[in-house]
Amino acid sequence: MHHFAVNRQGQLCCEEYPLREIARRVGTPAYVYSRATLEHHYRVFDEAFAGIPHIVCFSMKANSNGSVVRTFTRMGSGVDIVSGGELARALAAGAPPGKIVYSGVGKKAAEIEEALRRGILMFNVESREELERIDAIARRMRRRAPISIRVNPDVDPKTHPYISTGLKRNKFGINLRQAMRDYEWAAGRRNIEVVGVDCHIGSQLTDLSPFLDAAGRVRQLVDRLLSRGMPVRYVDIGGGLGIRYNDELPPQPKEYANAVASAFRGLDVTLVLEPGRVLVGNAGVLVTEVLYTKKIQSPSGKGKHHFFIVDAAMNDLARPSLYGSWHAILPVGRAPAGRVTADVVGPICESGDFLAKDRRLPPFKAGDLLAVMSAGAYGFSMSSNYNSRPRAAEVMVSGDRCEVVRERETLRDVIRGERAASFLQGPAKGK
Ligand code: LLP
Repeated sequence: MHHFAVNRQGQLCCEEYPLREIARRVGTPAYVYSRATLEHHYRVFDEAFAGIPHIVCFSMKANSNGSVVRTFTRMGSGVDIVSGGELARALAAGAPPGKIVYSGVGKKAAEIEEALRRGILMFNVESREELERIDAIARRMRRRAPISIRVNPDVDPKTHPYISTGLKRNKFGINLRQAMRDYEWAAGRRNIEVVGVDCHIGSQLTDLSPFLDAAGRVRQLVDRLLSRGMPVRYVDIGGGLGIRYNDELPPQPKEYANAVASAFRGLDVTLVLEPGRVLVGNAGVLVTEVLYTKKIQSPSGKGKHHFFIVDAAMNDLARPSLYGSWHAILPVGRAPAGRVTADVVGPICESGDFLAKDRRLPPFKAGDLLAVMSAGAYGFSMSSNYNSRPRAAEVMVSGDRCEVVRERETLRDVIRGERAASFLQGPAKGK
């Protein structure tokens, strides 16, 4: 469910605000988020776990915009972070430290220190060496570091290989047997407080069975830990619930919640959830303008193949280039009649720079505006300055109100911090 729909004048709107109007005001490319959709998604997800002690920790890597994060923290959400940068931004967006969980295989000493100083809920520890480092830092700071071990349950999430994280060949987590040894080691350390168990197997899962397999294995570990007198207060089962981009039929949050809850029935624990995509994916679109069109002889030999060259590119939305992912392309205004087969491509100098391939689309013309749908997750947060392109503006709409929540970068932003090397000054050879 989302609040992007065509109004009576044939204009695609975000809530009550026409996207064309946003493009006119802030230019393109621009990410546009719907507050009502964000709130609806959070509510549905949170309510799916009603009656079960739980904390929803929005996985802010999916969308790190301060206003997006704040939308959730105002509703009681915690945050799943993976860096010191995300810690700072989560706190700035009003996240209570006691609802922040910190995952990731490469936490640096300064990042661990800062998280300890702030008093986060727990570190999701991904290796023995990390555990030892957290222990040493906590000892130096005279603190007790709350930890859970991220276990790698070795289940296949049946999603894109780049976003599968719970297979034993992945870099994530600690295998179940080793985890038991690490828990025993941790339990003997004065500066470590074992508080939970964590697991995250992958992203954009459209089937419940991998979640159930993983939860079953985590449950066995929790039972063993409890039988050895280890306190397990939190069971964090990560994120990963998929969304509909095209014709996927992911489980509803309620089905997901029931499945997860059933695996931990009878335990006196608080579930920690780390949803990212399911909260923000369908709450954002990328608005872009057609700059040029081109036609070639179709590679199949039949008819013409079109290119719609737009002003957004793989630096703005990397997902199609990186994972071959499919995003719907909708006209922002009234579309010209008919259909052609086309690629929607950006200005970047790589053939891998595309937003859509081999689509049946209206015969768009230069100046037309397009909306790349379901771009709220891993869209702006993965964007870059490749080809020296300033990053897009971000806008949030609430009803008939619309505000810029991140300004478009300027060229000055793009070169900020760059210095001319002194040894390259003076006359060049051959001049
Ligand atoms: N927790 C942990 C430890 C994670 O690594 C992730 C995502 C999440 C939670 C949130 O997962 P979600 O609910 O969003 O599936 N860039 C890729 C997705 C990468 C996911 C990385 N980890 C994409 O655009 O599809």
